[in-house]
Amino acid sequence: MKLRVAEVRHVTSDVLHLTLVHPLRPTLPRWTAGAHVDLRLPDGRIRQYSLCGDPADCSRYEVAIKREAEGRGGSRWVHESAASEAILHVSAPRNNFELAATAYRHVLVAGGIGVTPVVAMARSLKAAQADFEVHFCVPSEDRAPLLPELRDICGSRLSVWSSADQRRFDPRLLGSPRDGTHVYACGPQSLSAAVEAALTQAEWPASQVHVEAFQATADENFKPEPFDVHIASTGQILHVPADRSLLDVLRTNGFEIRASCEAGVCGSCECGYRSGSVIHRDKVLPLSKRQDRIMPCVSRARLEMTLDL
Ligand code: FES
Repeated sequence: MKLRVAEVRHVTSDVLHLTLVHPLRPTLPRWTAGAHVDLRLPDGRIRQYSLCGDPADCSRYEVAIKREAEGRGGSRWVHESAASEAILHVSAPRNNFELAATAYRHVLVAGGIGVTPVVAMARSLKAAQADFEVHFCVPSEDRAPLLPELRDICGSRLSVWSSADQRRFDPRLLGSPRDGTHVYACGPQSLSAAVEAALTQAEWPASQVHVEAFQATADENFKPEPFDVHIASTGQILHVPADRSLLDVLRTNGFEIRASCEAGVCGSCECGYRSGSVIHRDKVLPLSKRQDRIMPCVSRARLEMTLDL
């Protein structure tokens, strides 16, 4: 969709909040809390941003984008170009970070700009009169994006952990697993990893822990090996060399696979597979789907595999 920037405001010195509307239609595709959209940059690159507005309001999408000086250039482009009335190319929303429908209680942990989906989730939970609490980890309150909105929504259910005030969040305070309680974490990799480690140590079932990733896992020791892929429908055998991704090889052989992040975090390139020893390297497929689904942008196989294409 080509959406118009209806409003731009700085919510902190390095975070820009954009309100996007359709130039002609009064409503946009529906979405649920935790969803993100893809933003296409003028050079064709794609970046994902979580929606932070109200899922009940389909007249607009809201995103908050932090300027990442060391990033890959997407946030810099948005900060420099997204003036009011600009037109941006935006995908329909997709959700890899859903609230668990069966949970009785939700514990949301956000770090820095990772608060964006959490704001929408807290809004939805409040509207549903659900039981929830939010932990927000920030360097300081004046560098905490969307803090006023979150305070408004959560009231006393919000705990702000500010390093400037020597208040650091210790994931061990989440304690032991409780039936019906689900924990969600979104933020820098160090925070998500600490939450996951503490919950694993406390023996929380993986099905009650949800982590939203925006970066592929840094995995310096992984040495890609070549492998062969059989295409189930045509019988073709394609060779994937060590220095190319499965997605890349599929594309060069005429398979049109939808892909967005190409880093194993957005979920758009998901394919089925029938057999093979797959090395899953993405951050988005749940365990329950790893027996027969693969993200070909980052995942590979040992020696050979058969793809359900
Ligand atoms: S393109 Fe995003 S997970 Fe593969």
